[in-house]
Amino acid sequence: ARLVVIRRDGAESVIEAGDGRSVMELIRDHGIDEMLAMCGGCCSCATCHVHIVDLAFADRLPPMSGEESDLLDSARSRDATSRLSCQIPFTEALDGLRVTIAEEA
Ligand code: FES
Repeated sequence: ARLVVIRRDGAESVIEAGDGRSVMELIRDHGIDEMLAMCGGCCSCATCHVHIVDLAFADRLPPMSGEESDLLDSARSRDATSRLSCQIPFTEALDGLRVTIAEEA
């Protein structure tokens, strides 16, 4: 399945991946280092903040936990499209998902 990542400078990267890793891990493992993901996916840093470009996908993502929402509150650019990418397991069902890396917190 394809994951499209839009970087802060507007450049797009297309990542081909199967099930099993989180969106954060796919972005990191693709060498996109502008997303810090400092806690490594433990849902405790909020530096893996992304925006879901197409809200039609929002319904297909796992619901946001209270922890994730609390952490996002610390992010400067939080809006209705915000998610922590480490909390989104990538699956075939998410083929075509586009995310924008959020501005630095
Ligand atoms: Fe730290 Fe996602 S990597 S909250």
